[in-house]
Amino acid sequence: MMVISTGCSTLDRLLEGGVQPKNLTLIYGEAETGKTTLALQCAVNCARMGMKTLYIDSDGSFTTQRLIQIAAHDYNQIAENILLAKPVSFQQQTYVIDQLEDLLTENVGLIVIDTITSLYRAELAENPKKTFRLNRELNRQLAYLAQTARVNKKVILITSQVRSIIQQQTLMIEPVATRVLKFWADVVLNLKPTAYRGIIEAILEKPENRKLKKCFYKITRKGIEEHAI
Ligand SMILES: Nc1ncnc2c1ncn2[C@@H]1O[C@H](COP(=O)(O)OP(=O)(O)OP(=O)(O)O)[C@@H](O)[C@H]1O
Ligand SMILES: [Mg+2]
Repeated sequence: MMVISTGCSTLDRLLEGGVQPKNLTLIYGEAETGKTTLALQCAVNCARMGMKTLYIDSDGSFTTQRLIQIAAHDYNQIAENILLAKPVSFQQQTYVIDQLEDLLTENVGLIVIDTITSLYRAELAENPKKTFRLNRELNRQLAYLAQTARVNKKVILITSQVRSIIQQQTLMIEPVATRVLKFWADVVLNLKPTAYRGIIEAILEKPENRKLKKCFYKITRKGIEEHAI
């Protein structure tokens, strides 16, 4: 079983070494707080340990350009170790998640789903009548992922976006989705922008009993780096 470094020492310390196997880790926060960058850095570090990543890109934010920036010298070798799925509907996301178990071979070290709620949101906005069914399906996916992480001893990392500006629709949707995600996740990291440009505060909301509860990092062109305050 292996812990995967985030590539940022302050975050690794907060997470007791990095993202942990057997856990479902949730990273959530406002737009541009570095969720995708963090997921990519974990995939890169996983590849550098010789393991594969199953990367489910549910909001189309995975770009080779960003991966090249982050991976730099060993990009080719890293790209070979990332299996990418790009579902474009919530139904496709459901399908991909249901296939996961068959793809979980020994050499898979990490599963990423970025952003787990974006297709759910889009579908909900189009079909408000399906709210109950969609919430039930989101809940099922999360339960399955938490179980898969535990049983197969894998690192599973999911991200979710929250909005500070509350629109009529998010006012209704947000609390439900966030509650479901936080309920099933073993580790919850909340990312918050600070008054300083490019500096983000990471707050460990779960587990609750830890001594170290927060840290800071900065987002640069090369990715996410430690920032001491
Ligand atoms: N290709 C890039 N080159 C340089 N900087 C980038 C690049 N992509 C992202 N960034 C920087 O990293 C920051 C965080 O981007 P990232 O996509 O990781 O955020 P996010 O939390 O995933 O956002 P979202 O909620 O929109 O998915 C951006 O604000 C930007 O400053
Ligand atoms: Mg993103």
